[in-house]
Amino acid sequence: MSLDTGIRLAYLVAAVCFILALKGLSGPKTARIGNLVGAGGMLLAVGMTFATPGLSRFPLMAGAIAIGAVLGFPAARLVKMTAIPQMVAAFNGVGGGAAALIALAEFNKSDPHQLAVYQVVEVLFGVVVGCISFAGSVVAFAKLQELMTGRPVTYPGQQVLNAVVGGGILGLAIAACISPHGWLIAVIGVLALFFGIAFVLPIGGADVPVLISLLNSFTGLAVAASGFVLHSVVLVVAGTLVGASGTLLTRMMSSAMGRSLPNILFSAFGSVVTATTTDGELGDRTVRSGSADDIAVLLAYSQKVMIVPGYGLAVAQAQHVARELAELLESRGVEVVYAIHPVAGRMPGHMNVLLAEANVPYEQLKGMEEANPGFQTADVALVVGANDVVNPAAKNSPGSPIYGMPILAVDEAKNIVFLKRSMRPGFAGIDNELLFDPKTTMLFGDAKDSLTKLVAAVKQL
Ligand code: TAP
Repeated sequence: MSLDTGIRLAYLVAAVCFILALKGLSGPKTARIGNLVGAGGMLLAVGMTFATPGLSRFPLMAGAIAIGAVLGFPAARLVKMTAIPQMVAAFNGVGGGAAALIALAEFNKSDPHQLAVYQVVEVLFGVVVGCISFAGSVVAFAKLQELMTGRPVTYPGQQVLNAVVGGGILGLAIAACISPHGWLIAVIGVLALFFGIAFVLPIGGADVPVLISLLNSFTGLAVAASGFVLHSVVLVVAGTLVGASGTLLTRMMSSAMGRSLPNILFSAFGSVVTATTTDGELGDRTVRSGSADDIAVLLAYSQKVMIVPGYGLAVAQAQHVARELAELLESRGVEVVYAIHPVAGRMPGHMNVLLAEANVPYEQLKGMEEANPGFQTADVALVVGANDVVNPAAKNSPGSPIYGMPILAVDEAKNIVFLKRSMRPGFAGIDNELLFDPKTTMLFGDAKDSLTKLVAAVKQL
């Protein structure tokens, strides 16, 4: 077998590893091994690239890998789970930028007038999509990292400007196909960078992570285009997998939020401040606040308790003590289940990952559709740091920004207990009437502290 055939075979093995990795990542029990298989495939692909005969500029490439490893390894090790969306945005932007640079470099290496139209199209696709993904990801990162406002940024004539720039890119791309020039491709790249920023600015609030998933699929497509430019099957396969899975994830996230993708991209969600938005002021309404001892009695003498975790559970890192409380209640004969909303927290599967880390049996985690009928027979819905995912405004207030989002039917439980620190709203920035419901008791404080107090109080009974 020649070296060339060996390298091609190794690339095929790497591509198969990527497919198996995605399969593994689709379930919590196989996710870890799936991740390792994907990383192994990537290592093989990179190793084989270095084995390619005639490879030049080895030190430059090794230097680039070293810089990437020095920056990427600690970033991935140290990132808090709540900050993973912005880390994904940053890594995704780098991928899009790399794909655009590869396409540009390959164009510069060749004689433009010897290129067939389809080859120019491949280059253009890589440059345009890669630049949009890079610039869009930088803005998405800045929004999530609170380096700029997380709200939609809108101005008069915005959609028209975006349409003009988009049309300009298309027109120049057609001109470049007819007469390919380096400067024309560079101008298109700059316009695509501008378009990436302009397209992301009006998207804000809860829509940003959906946007990141969409940009992720763009990066995949740009990488696949680079694969065509470089005649690299493994890049085409890897890029297509990222593009397809990113698209599926985008669709799943938008449907879990009860929104269509065009609505997310073009409706500037969250820019409309509704009459219900609050800074935590109660007006003349009252809420019922309880002590840990009272709530412990309520929980311990229940038949069925449904725990609803949300973003606050992640912030407080309260998953272990939540499991401890659940086990304590179960030892007293109480049935305990966890009701998981698909967009609870800040990333897909956030609650599942946290609770799995705390060794909560997977069978106790009920998805929204499975959990919802159970609330009618629940004595207590214990809402731990969740807010938007239980807000009845999604069902009852047509003017609300979250109207149409499917929610957990916590309002149907006999008693509701909220563990949160204040009356402040959640991610969508809107009031939750359920906090004022006569069935509701608030236990104010950090979720981990409150759960710890509940554990101690239940033990005393
Ligand atoms: P949120 O609606 O964001 O509510 C979280 C609540 O947790 C807040 O009201 C906050 O109230 C409380 N909290 C924060 N820190 C706490 C702590 N240390 N201890 C106790 N409570 C704490 O969360 P949710 O119900 O999970 O909903 C998720 C939201 O994020 C949805 O709007 C969803 O659309 C959006 N989103 C989700 C995703 C994915 S994929 N999961 C992606 C993008 C956006 P206090 O400040 O009063 O404590």
